[in-house]
Amino acid sequence: MTFQQIFNQLPETQASASGRVNLLGEHTDYNDGFVLPTAIPQQTIVQLGFSEQGHQFYSENLQERVKILDINHTPSGFASYIFGCIEVLKQAGYRIPPLNVYVKSSVPMGAGLSSSAALEVATLRAIRQLLDLPIDDVEIAQLAQQGEIHYAGVQCSIMDQMAASLADTQHLLFLDTRTLERRVLLFPDGTTTLVIDSGVPHTLATSGYNQRRLECQEAANLLGVQSLRDITDAKVAETLPEPLNRRVRHVVTEDNRVLEAVQGVTPEVFGELMNASHASLRDDYEVSVPALDTLVEILQTTPGVLGARLTGAGFGGACVALVPLGAEQAIATQVLKAYNNAGYTGKILVPNIEVDDAA
Ligand code: GLA
Repeated sequence: MTFQQIFNQLPETQASASGRVNLLGEHTDYNDGFVLPTAIPQQTIVQLGFSEQGHQFYSENLQERVKILDINHTPSGFASYIFGCIEVLKQAGYRIPPLNVYVKSSVPMGAGLSSSAALEVATLRAIRQLLDLPIDDVEIAQLAQQGEIHYAGVQCSIMDQMAASLADTQHLLFLDTRTLERRVLLFPDGTTTLVIDSGVPHTLATSGYNQRRLECQEAANLLGVQSLRDITDAKVAETLPEPLNRRVRHVVTEDNRVLEAVQGVTPEVFGELMNASHASLRDDYEVSVPALDTLVEILQTTPGVLGARLTGAGFGGACVALVPLGAEQAIATQVLKAYNNAGYTGKILVPNIEVDDAA
């Protein structure tokens, strides 16, 4: 169904935003650390029109229509993200008229590729355009994060929204999540990314994620620092009890891996940093699952692959690999076959053969 079929009018404007894949710097953003995401080709498109009957949201993917009858009551599901964007804009002092909002997305859900941040950023961009609001891209990311925390109830940090708002598919976005200082970098020479979904949705991610956040905060308190970003020597972790010692070791070594990667290392060294990141996420941070370990192992032992790791929060979702440019399709096909032979059902997400899905 189109916007016109749903709302009986033509859209006034439309905007889009991409999902993201993080190459290095996992579980560092809520510790004020460093991250290195890039945008994926899959996008979320939001179309807008003015409504005469209060806010109305429609998701083409879910074929679900939500009417906001009471603005004091936050809706659930996809509508909570859109509602959150509208509410944070109102709190920032903008007058938002009743809107018809149509959403269509090719960003996979539940794979750790930030479909929610893409929805939020696309929504905010579309509203900015429609009402000519003086908001810059960093503010869009910050508003999106506030919306997600307060209206979708997810204690997220800022990486996903910054990536959706500022990253592109041709570059890596090196971001300091404490200061929001950033640099746009090229991929290591002659390389590109490959993203494969493990087929295991990250359903346990929320409870595991929140628990890790609490552990990091507890460790920071014990170490007398504001956040783990302030620790640069992983040896400091040894003074802490289990499992806080390993949690801290992951965060500190992961921050250091990002900082090393952005020095302009060779593709081989970059790949080794990704491999080390996976081992750290698996053994020290304990956010991997057998499916992800299997997929990463297949990737790491496939000729041509420079490095591979789980990406996103973990507990399921996708893996990312660094591969020679031009070899991605052949490697992806070979890896998927081996992974499926091991009894799983994976899916190649990047390179994206359905790139026009949302158009
Ligand atoms: C999720 C969160 C991000 C980040 C990652 C882990 O994707 O939304 O903010 O914490 O997990 O690196």
